[in-house]
Amino acid sequence: MRNVVITGASSGIGEALAIELAKRGWERIALLGRRAGALEGVAKEVMAHGSKPMPIESDVRDAQSVRDAVTRVEAEWGPVDLAVANAGIGFPTPAHRFSLDDARAIMQTNFDGMLHLWDAVSPKMLARYEGHFVAIASLAGLRGLPGGSVYAASKAAMQAWMEASRVELTGKGIAMTIVNPGFVATPMVEKNRFRMPFLMKTRDAVRKIADGIERRARVIEFPLGTSMLMRALRLVPVPLFDRLVRPWSRRRVDLERARH
Ligand SMILES: NC(=O)c1ccc[n+]([C@@H]2O[C@H](COP(=O)([O-])OP(=O)(O)OC[C@H]3O[C@@H](n4cnc5c(N)ncnc54)[C@H](OP(=O)(O)O)[C@@H]3O)[C@@H](O)[C@H]2O)c1
Repeated sequence: MRNVVITGASSGIGEALAIELAKRGWERIALLGRRAGALEGVAKEVMAHGSKPMPIESDVRDAQSVRDAVTRVEAEWGPVDLAVANAGIGFPTPAHRFSLDDARAIMQTNFDGMLHLWDAVSPKMLARYEGHFVAIASLAGLRGLPGGSVYAASKAAMQAWMEASRVELTGKGIAMTIVNPGFVATPMVEKNRFRMPFLMKTRDAVRKIADGIERRARVIEFPLGTSMLMRALRLVPVPLFDRLVRPWSRRRVDLERARH
């Protein structure tokens, strides 16, 4: 068995995680994303490491598209053992130059996208009393971060939903894992024109994620430096928080690059 579904598998963390899981012997890995060409490339890599890939074009903002993809996986391979809600986008959404379209795109991809995957895989997981659901959130979800307000909100929403659901699912045989990475060197952060503290290599990040998945950890959080910084920021009083993070509002980002 050991059937895996990963959304956002065409680049960055999703791509590297698919390859890492293939190296670790996960047998069948469905690769979801919008870019068919990129998915084919990842499929070849997965196959080279001895696993069976299934690249499927799918948009996580569309619940039916995710349902159709999971139905195809279940029909060809059987039930999904591990589902990873990884697809995500992020760019600045300043309140003083607000774009509702941008805000909706981020929430629909990151938060709704995760719910759409749960909606698709949970009936069989619940029926079998077995399964593992993983959400790639972010340390950015631990406080409202100027320069990334809607992104932080989407990740906070993912964390809250995962946490509550994990407890609700106690005794139902389903593991729920929240992953909170700091900065990881993927195409998503190439737009950033500011220094990213404790920036990690994608390969190192996915090793930590795969280790945590194999332990069925409730929370996987890294790197330690960023995790401690964000956890400390949760404790500082509001006036001090505002003073400390105000400069982040002016972080430079290549917006054209960010939206694509
Ligand atoms: N890199 C970091 O520093 C960092 C830190 C914390 C958390 N994260 C989270 O890690 C996850 C992966 O990000 P990444 O850094 O690997 O970025 P990335 O390289 O830009 O990858 C994002 C992936 O999401 C997919 N995606 C975007 N919109 C989609 C949609 N509507 N439907 C289906 N797939 C969609 C993209 O595939 P297509 O374009 O082919 O659809 C792509 O495969 C995200 O949730 C991100 O928030 C990243």
